[in-house]
Amino acid sequence: MMKGIFWSRFLLAASLCWGSGAGLALAAPPEAGPEGAVVHGSANAITVNGDAIFNHVSRLAASSRVAGTQNEYNAVQYIKGELEKYGYTVTLQSFTFPKFSAPSSIQLTIEGTHGLASEQLAPQALQNTQGGDVSGEVVDAKKGTPQDLKGLELKGKIALIEAGQIDTNDKIANVADQGAVAVILYNPSSDTPISDTQFSTLSLPTVSLSGKDAQALKQKAAANDGPRVRLSVQGVAAMAATSYNVVATLRPNTTTTTSDLVTVGAHHDSVSAGPGANDDASGVGVVLEVARVVAGTQRDSEVRFLTFGAEEYGLYGSKAYANSLSSTDIGRFIGHFQLDMVGSKNSGTLGMYTVNGQKNVVTDLGATFASRLSGVIPYGQFGRSDHVPFYQRGVATALYTHSPAEPEYHTRYDTIDKISKDKLANIATIVGNSVAEILSPTTPSFKRYKDFFTPVNYPYDPNPPV
Ligand code: BES
Ligand code: ZN
Repeated sequence: MMKGIFWSRFLLAASLCWGSGAGLALAAPPEAGPEGAVVHGSANAITVNGDAIFNHVSRLAASSRVAGTQNEYNAVQYIKGELEKYGYTVTLQSFTFPKFSAPSSIQLTIEGTHGLASEQLAPQALQNTQGGDVSGEVVDAKKGTPQDLKGLELKGKIALIEAGQIDTNDKIANVADQGAVAVILYNPSSDTPISDTQFSTLSLPTVSLSGKDAQALKQKAAANDGPRVRLSVQGVAAMAATSYNVVATLRPNTTTTTSDLVTVGAHHDSVSAGPGANDDASGVGVVLEVARVVAGTQRDSEVRFLTFGAEEYGLYGSKAYANSLSSTDIGRFIGHFQLDMVGSKNSGTLGMYTVNGQKNVVTDLGATFASRLSGVIPYGQFGRSDHVPFYQRGVATALYTHSPAEPEYHTRYDTIDKISKDKLANIATIVGNSVAEILSPTTPSFKRYKDFFTPVNYPYDPNPPV
């Protein structure tokens, strides 16, 4: 039978229901294909509820959810409770990860010259700073871009760097490459030192100053004999913190089953800067709604819905999960769908990103369903989320996200008012139907999925989301 042809018919019918009512419908009754055969797929077509997803995002984004904190644990309990309502068996996988504690003391002193007294400044340590006790001449390193640093003598010096333009970790890496021993970061228009951003492990002792203090220091640095400062950052320690993954399993409910396994995931932790409505409460909301609707389908294969902790500190939760899988389970995988930053009004268009930049079953399915619903979507290359550890274990996987990322990414402005219900519902429909297709008894083992459908053509997007 011509399954590919039927699939288009079924999806075409579905697209006519688009946007009707509260939920977005992708429902069609079992029907005869052009050849009169009842073909797979229709029995499992799912309808998602955009309001339900939005409500999950809203609940989760009531506060930040930094890994290892009570707020993260509250989010974990909320997710677990919702999944149990839908009939899932839910377990928590705990793991530890290195979390840098704040320094016990920091001092920044402008050393006295020409008989002048030394001057104490009021620095703030940045999260994840290195400890140390260094002194050296202050050099204005502008914004710390490679261009800014060209020809600048930084060996043994302390770099004064303005915030913005490029990633903070990259600024610090750039000056460290040229031999700087410490960093003072500032935002010229801020009355207070920078404190509300979370960085991954910084490679140098790094503190921030208020815009005013930093500008004064910069003026002194512009004078010929730049000031010498001493920076002491004491008591920094990497402490083991505990975080959790949520694992919800749904087993086959048909008499004939396959050993196929498919997983869908998002990270529930956020940075400390803000409530992470889009990063990644949005992904968790979509995971929950897809889990709810998939629980009502006929399934000859197993699906697991996963939310990961400590993604923002370095993909710790997904690494712990992927590394805990047996080689037997790895061999059962059809694919892993990762949802990260999937609902901002201010981001670009939907795309699918793989670690190696190649298409796979996860992108083939998504592109094919998307093409019938809301238009073809591209694939590209991008890591930086929880699909990476799955890829490293040989699982076909892709990150679903919008590109380019919104300007509120990792700031306190990543709030619920920036979330688009339509974007959430669209991606949930695409991913939900992809998963339902894998699970459907009408597609016994999905390993040879090209027996069941011919993927549409979809383009390569050369630009990563950030
Ligand atoms: N959600 C981001 C990754 C992302 C950015 C996805 C833009 C889609 C669009 C994720 O939470 C993150 O911030 N990851 C870290 C890397 C990680 C290894 C600490 C990053 O990108 O800096
Ligand atoms: Zn994220």
